[in-house]
Amino acid sequence: MIKVASGKSTTPKAKLLDEFNASILFDKELYMQDIEGSIAHVKMLEKQKIISLEAKEKIIYGLHVIQSEIENGEYIFDIADEDIHMSIERRLSDIIGDDAKRVHTARSRNDQVALDFRMYVLKSNNEIIKLLVDLQRVLIAIASKHTKTLLPGMTHLQHAQPINFAYHMLAYLCMFKRDIERFEDSHKRNNISPIGCAALAGSPYPTNREYEAELLGFDSVSVNCLDTVSDRDFALEILFNISTMMMHVSRFCEEIVLWSSSEFGFVELSDEYSTSSSIMPQKKNPDVPELLRGKTGRVNGNLIALLTVLKGLPLAYNKDMQEDKEGVFDSVKTAKISIKILAEVLKSMKINKENMLKATKKGHLSATDLADYLTLNCEYTFRDAYRLTGEVVSYAEEINKDISELTLKELHKFEPSIKESIINTLQPQFSMNARNSQGGTSTCSTLTQLKYFERWISKRLVD
Ligand code: ARG
Repeated sequence: MIKVASGKSTTPKAKLLDEFNASILFDKELYMQDIEGSIAHVKMLEKQKIISLEAKEKIIYGLHVIQSEIENGEYIFDIADEDIHMSIERRLSDIIGDDAKRVHTARSRNDQVALDFRMYVLKSNNEIIKLLVDLQRVLIAIASKHTKTLLPGMTHLQHAQPINFAYHMLAYLCMFKRDIERFEDSHKRNNISPIGCAALAGSPYPTNREYEAELLGFDSVSVNCLDTVSDRDFALEILFNISTMMMHVSRFCEEIVLWSSSEFGFVELSDEYSTSSSIMPQKKNPDVPELLRGKTGRVNGNLIALLTVLKGLPLAYNKDMQEDKEGVFDSVKTAKISIKILAEVLKSMKINKENMLKATKKGHLSATDLADYLTLNCEYTFRDAYRLTGEVVSYAEEINKDISELTLKELHKFEPSIKESIINTLQPQFSMNARNSQGGTSTCSTLTQLKYFERWISKRLVD
């Protein structure tokens, strides 16, 4: 096999080196970006009169043939070609002959790979954003049905104060919104064309980088070629953004795992999205949320791996940088399937309002409300009210009641000036609605938050 770019040495390369050095088995993922990049490149070369119209047309024709060969599964990815860039150029020679030798004019694999990889990352940013918006729609639909569904809000995984289920879903809507914004910010920052930087120092040909960037849909052209061919920040950003997003997914899934246990019984996963045990016939396992939680490990690993690869590299391109791709491909695939499947799990999950309500009767969720009542109505300082409420809670525990179940007579043992209205104040529903401050859990405040997201999502439809 004759390589297109035969290096200095004429000695055939050791087979072991070919295997070790080649990236084609994974960078074939970039074939479409490579073809699009080469088409734009020859258009620019022809416009600048660096190659002829005829050569440009033959090259574009050949590239289209290659595209269909790849898409029909007829293309041979040979490790002797080393990477997708050399492979396509070699195959182009087979198809159109000598004019293929012009495609790499005023270009190096260093700016070519920077281009292909950046285009892949930008496309992936958009795909992930779309999927996250779909997930947001599912969350909004669930939240809109549950603005009055009570459940215990927790801190330290202990019952804290009553909230409603929509409010809990809204917390995740906020997280995924920040994720979407992070992918968008990164997209904006990195929508800059690297092509035309050549090996590291630019090119002596009369190229037109602006034109090539425009053909490829970039907003602008990079400023410094040395930085451009060394830069993989765009890849680090998508890895970090995916890690943060998956951390949110993982927290959500941890809650789903807990909620679907018999201890909680707040939700029931659909049969379609749960699995059974091979030995215990009664079991319905939350494998999907568990696996989603587990996938966070690999995406975090991919981020740390690339940070480590890049740390300490001298400018400009170094072969270490070939290690940048597999982790990104893996994280992108993991992110996309994870968001899709999480949306399906949520859509098909049954929400057990009754069990949630029952749980609000445990753990003295309205203890803070009693302390606030004493402060507001019985001339207690908050700290004294807090102490007295502690005594009331201990008493309730002794007689096996929740604080919300105490009678007025029982409460009078602690403070005779307490009025009848306290009974209502200590009900979870009342307690939830009392937290009506901006961003609070009351149904009214929850509805405002829901409206905020409905408006936000409807604006995205117009975009
Ligand atoms: N396969 C290489 C990579 O993925 C392409 C760039 C090669 N450049 C070079 N100067 N050897 O990084």
